[in-house]
Amino acid sequence: MPDAHILGIETSCDETGAAVVRSGQQILSNVVASQIATHQPYGGVVPELASREHLRAIVPVVRQALAEAGQTYASVDAIAVTQGPGLAGALLVGISFAKALAFALEKPLIAVNHLEGHIHAVLLEQRLGENADLQFPVLALVVSGGHTHLYLAQVQENLWSYRNIGHTRDDAAGEAFDKVAKLLGLGYPGGPIIDGLAPHGDPHAVKFQGSQIKHPDRRDQKLGDRGQLGTEEDGPHFDFSYSGIKTGVLRYVETQNLKPAIEARRRALAGIEKPTLADIRGLCDRETLNLVASFQRSMVNDLVMKTLAAAREYDVRTLFVSGGVAANRELRATFEREAGRQGLPVFFPSRALSTDNAAMIAAAAFPKFLRGEFVGMDFCAEAGMALR
Ligand code: KG4
Ligand code: ZN
Repeated sequence: MPDAHILGIETSCDETGAAVVRSGQQILSNVVASQIATHQPYGGVVPELASREHLRAIVPVVRQALAEAGQTYASVDAIAVTQGPGLAGALLVGISFAKALAFALEKPLIAVNHLEGHIHAVLLEQRLGENADLQFPVLALVVSGGHTHLYLAQVQENLWSYRNIGHTRDDAAGEAFDKVAKLLGLGYPGGPIIDGLAPHGDPHAVKFQGSQIKHPDRRDQKLGDRGQLGTEEDGPHFDFSYSGIKTGVLRYVETQNLKPAIEARRRALAGIEKPTLADIRGLCDRETLNLVASFQRSMVNDLVMKTLAAAREYDVRTLFVSGGVAANRELRATFEREAGRQGLPVFFPSRALSTDNAAMIAAAAFPKFLRGEFVGMDFCAEAGMALR
């Protein structure tokens, strides 16, 4: 297998990332400039601000990634960049920069789907080195701020193909974490804060109704030949829905009259420059901690239950869980436990590689590099890009 150094660039949302990965396996550098401080006052990502911050960060971030990897513009073998899905203006910054580099350096350019990047972050995990023991079909849950998607994944001669067998009907799981944290005046982004607070509350204290969507377009066709993924129209779908639980939290806040405490917490946190988890926890009463723990437990149970039901239905051999929400400790522990019960191996990226980064983009680009799957200077950002 030829050794290739791929420079990956990721600017789909609110992290400017650049990384150098050797042969899809070894991370030589992985630089991420977070925009959390920029978006924090708004409680969510502001697209125009994201584009501006990417413009500011892209050159120093790429330079740092090359320097840390001991590489130069001239020494890398290819440039890979996220094509979509993501914020159009944000994607454009990374794509324009990657095109300029590829043109000036006469290097091949590789376009990568962000979701495929999340899936390949799992393959960067040491345990899966060289994919030696990987059993197909793989079921991948990509669970992030923008997606809650289930894919069957297959590879043949370095050609990865994917079939979507489930997605969220409304909010993505990460979006629900972020919105609930905002609603409770806990700060942004909500996922890591709720993850940190949940162990301090009682997860049984508040009961939420589970998602009510039950395979509305279920068909009775199973995955026949293991080598064939079939089309998206084949077989049952396992859809998610998280706007109901967000409304459940809101209703609880109203009926329990938590609003004055939430407002007080919001004001107090606005006065702290960089609030730590201890600061936030210190501003939460028991009832709020219980609510947070119960919310997280419901989210985790729903994600795990539906994913494992899909794994049984499609008789998969391996489970991948990736995307920002895959950093969640309770989600990881519950998947490990429940998949273990089914005898299903489950793999996650390291927690740092779960959230957006460019190493996953460079890793996903490697099979395309081997296949000579390069793009021309005319390729465009695709904000709503699907994964196939
Ligand atoms: O993959 P990602 O970095 O960006 C997108 O592609 O969306 O995911 C970001 C999302 C945010 O919604 C964030 O709140 C959530 O992932 N997240 C978490 C955790 N860390 C990040 N959610 C739950 N628990 C975490 N520890
Ligand atoms: Zn992502």
